[in-house]
Amino acid sequence: MKTTISQGVMVTVAVCTLLSACGKPSSNDDDSMPVSSTASESGLTGKAAEYVAMSPEALAERLIFDENGFYLDETTQEGGVARDRMTQDQLQKTCSAGRANLAAEAIGEVVALSRASTIKPENGISLGDWEAGEAVARSGYGYRIGHNVDDHSNQDPGGNCYACHQMAPDEPTYGTLGPSLVNFGKLRGNTEATRNYLYEVIYSPHSYFPCTNMPRFGANGVLTQTQIADVMAYLLDPASPVNQ
Ligand code: HEC
Repeated sequence: MKTTISQGVMVTVAVCTLLSACGKPSSNDDDSMPVSSTASESGLTGKAAEYVAMSPEALAERLIFDENGFYLDETTQEGGVARDRMTQDQLQKTCSAGRANLAAEAIGEVVALSRASTIKPENGISLGDWEAGEAVARSGYGYRIGHNVDDHSNQDPGGNCYACHQMAPDEPTYGTLGPSLVNFGKLRGNTEATRNYLYEVIYSPHSYFPCTNMPRFGANGVLTQTQIADVMAYLLDPASPVNQ
């Protein structure tokens, strides 16, 4: 049954793409015709039509919360359950509502929310220890959902930067969702402006890249101020392998 519905959705999407006419009544259509009767004429069920007519946000809400697509009562390390993480904050809601088509004011809202959430260190932004920063960049420890949760009293959660970025040029294993950060310090210089930028990007990257896939390491409490300073050193310190 599920397969039939999703195939129906795919067919409808394909037909819409080909004809680029769905949702727009043609000149001889009856304007008062409801969406569901158009869908049933094409052999789709009312349910499929409902999916197609939904906004991306409403569809995600439905799949996650109403269709029981995830085990939402699974416990998380921060003490809550998976359901809490699935509940979007205002920044995520704005990004989801706009998807690829974000209006200028929505982009402004995301950037403003991101900046407002950014807390700077009391004693100014400075670099920590690049070796500790390398461990943060490599580690994906922590904040997994499951019964066998990682013990944060033994080891701090990591930043998992290598999952998305190339960093040290001699490390062969890295993801490419984010841009390469090889020679970051050499190319940008260890200036106050670069340190400010880097801190803000790690803390809440939406300040510069609204609706980015990069996690908000500071705003979401994944990394501590010390860990952020360390990972900044890994990127900016001339002695770090990133800059060799
Ligand atoms: C889930 C993937 C992901 C993870 C994990 C991730 N990033 Fe990113 N990062 C991105 C993406 C994607 C961009 C590009 C911004 C965009 O266009 O969305 C980016 C951009 C950046 C930039 C700006 C690059 C520039 O040229 O100025 C820096 C710096 C950065 N990330 C550092 C980090 C650090 C440090 C970590 C680990 C603490 C990290 N990232 C973890 C995805 C990720």
